[in-house]
Amino acid sequence: MSAHKKILSPSILAADHAALAEGLQVVVENRLEWIHLDIMDGNFVPNISFGPQVVKDLRKRNNTLFFDTHLMLARPDKYIEKFIDAGSQLVTIHIEPEYDVEGTLKRIRELGCQAGISLNPDTPVERILPLLDRVDLVLVMSVFPGFGGQSFIESVLPKITRLAQEREARGLNFRIEVDGGVDSRTAPLCLEAGADTLVAGTAFFKAADKPAFIRLCQGE
Ligand code: DX5
Ligand code: ZN
Repeated sequence: MSAHKKILSPSILAADHAALAEGLQVVVENRLEWIHLDIMDGNFVPNISFGPQVVKDLRKRNNTLFFDTHLMLARPDKYIEKFIDAGSQLVTIHIEPEYDVEGTLKRIRELGCQAGISLNPDTPVERILPLLDRVDLVLVMSVFPGFGGQSFIESVLPKITRLAQEREARGLNFRIEVDGGVDSRTAPLCLEAGADTLVAGTAFFKAADKPAFIRLCQGE
């Protein structure tokens, strides 16, 4: 079993982008520690979100939240420094595009940041097994990245279980995060499978009873 405390990382993608600071405030008011920042380039994924300047300005509004930055970029290696300078404490990159994945993970850590690796729903978990001793977090995508509000793809659950088993067998300590379609029905499935970190955009910002949703995601 993982020793990690369970964390809900709300995705600000689901907040009002003309008032992102207000979204940040909702996260703070609910005493959460993490915020998930989805960065999309219109190339690796068919949508564009926001860039390092926005992250930097959000950081100016809040100095305590843990910035969990998810780079959905065709060339993440070109941008990691900008997102780390902007105040990210964790930068997660995808395994699928063509670039030096290992070198980029190494560089993220050298820059004093935590490093995460992510895989799309159709990428076999075997592809990232050789990298597990070099990361602080594995982000299992439970939707095809690009948009919030999609339905959870249940066939990714065995990947979570496999990662939890590998972690145990190899004495590693990375977090297992799930992203996409996490709501009050699917969050318990993720936790049961072995996840310790849940991203939720739509379900969090739309939840009428946020404290109840938070407790559910944090396994309380
Ligand atoms: C999808 C993003 C997710 C997304 C989650 O490309 O990586 O973080 O915002 O949104 P929901 O929770 O609405 O599926
Ligand atoms: Zn994300």
